[in-house]
Amino acid sequence: MALSFIHGIVVGIVLTFITLLALYNRCYYLSLSTFYSNNNIFHRTSDKRHSRNISYEGYQFFVFSDESPMVRAYLDVVRDTVCGLALRTQERAYVDNHMRPMDINQRIKGLDWPFTGITMVGQRRLINIEWALRFVIANGIMGDFIECGVWRGVSSIFARAVLKALNNNDRDVWLADSFQGLPKARTLHDTDIWSKMEYLKVSLEEVQTNFKAFNLLDDRVHFCKGYFVNSLPNCNISRIAVLRMDGDMYESTMDQLFNLYSKLQVGGVIIIDDYSIEECFRAIVDFRNWHNITEEILPIPGDETGRCWIKRKSIQLQKDQYVLLLPKTKS
Ligand SMILES: C[S@@+](CC[C@H](N)C(=O)[O-])C[C@H]1O[C@@H](n2cnc3c(N)ncnc32)[C@H](O)[C@@H]1O
Ligand SMILES: *[C@@H]1O[C@H](CO)[C@@H](O)[C@H](O)[C@H]1NC(C)=O
Ligand SMILES: *[C@@H]1O[C@H](CO)[C@@H](O)[C@H](O)[C@H]1NC(C)=O
Ligand SMILES: *[C@@H]1O[C@H](CO)[C@@H](O)[C@H](O)[C@H]1NC(C)=O
Repeated sequence: MALSFIHGIVVGIVLTFITLLALYNRCYYLSLSTFYSNNNIFHRTSDKRHSRNISYEGYQFFVFSDESPMVRAYLDVVRDTVCGLALRTQERAYVDNHMRPMDINQRIKGLDWPFTGITMVGQRRLINIEWALRFVIANGIMGDFIECGVWRGVSSIFARAVLKALNNNDRDVWLADSFQGLPKARTLHDTDIWSKMEYLKVSLEEVQTNFKAFNLLDDRVHFCKGYFVNSLPNCNISRIAVLRMDGDMYESTMDQLFNLYSKLQVGGVIIIDDYSIEECFRAIVDFRNWHNITEEILPIPGDETGRCWIKRKSIQLQKDQYVLLLPKTKS
């Protein structure tokens, strides 16, 4: 009798403990602050580098044990130089064409359109690129970085700088762009206004010159030239770990999603620069609805316009939807 009484108490304590542990874990996973930190759901595979996470600019950043403090110093300098903050250049905002000192807060969030500056994205979305690359490396998610819509190329330059600084040798950087601006609209989802913006036309040579200026043009950097609808189906990238989309239009966004989302590895990161642009936003909503994509859309700390999500499951592409968006072929 006494024995089974003690037995009962022990079982009770154990069960309470297990229940509390389960509740704790559940709260942990549901809390907002774990958006950027929970990596334990993925298996660590090929990359066995030991990492720990630190708190950095609103993220849980993975830092590798063999990483020199000079990595942080180098990336800070490259990042704040390319987005204009370090030099505090005089800029002319595209919107009103007036020369004036750069507005630091606008530049941090990438809300202005710089004239002499070489990237639009701003400091916060550059930090997001570094976070995404560290996230896939630490989690052993294999694949390359690709940016679709590169303008002067500098977000991709920063991505190459991150991989080089982290001494990562198994991931390439791909840049997809027409290198002659945005196309005319081919459906009613878009208009032709984008195609008329001279400011958005940057040649491949100019992008390569920018890469060389940072000594980062090497055989790990590849270019897919052409309008996405033609170039992306032929782009030789096979596995994607970080997909960065910055093509502004509905059709440009759909061309990227239908050609590249299947190549994005489960556990990889998709970044949408233009979530605040109506057409891009609608493309994201439509694509997610057609494919029942329910992964949580994450904010970018300190930024107002970009978003990202971590791909957690594969999808079956609904090609019928895409056919309706393709240019009509003469038959
Ligand atoms: C807003 S800019 C990109 C800004 C850039 N990510 C940065 O870091 O500054 C948009 C770019 O997307 C390209 N683009 C948009 N739609 C495209 C399409 N359908 N095909 C090829 N390039 C496209 C344009 O040529 C332009 O370089
Ligand atoms: C990050 O580190 C904290 C402790 O420093 C730990 O509790 C947490 O589980 C770590 N997160 C990941 C994703 O490793
Ligand atoms: C893709 O790879 C094939 C074979 O390696 C090559 O022939 C082709 O030119 C490449 N295409 C591009 C766009 O680089
Ligand atoms: C999405 O979910 C709906 C309702 O559950 C289902 O009928 C449809 O087949 C799903 N579509 C895809 C592409 O999975």
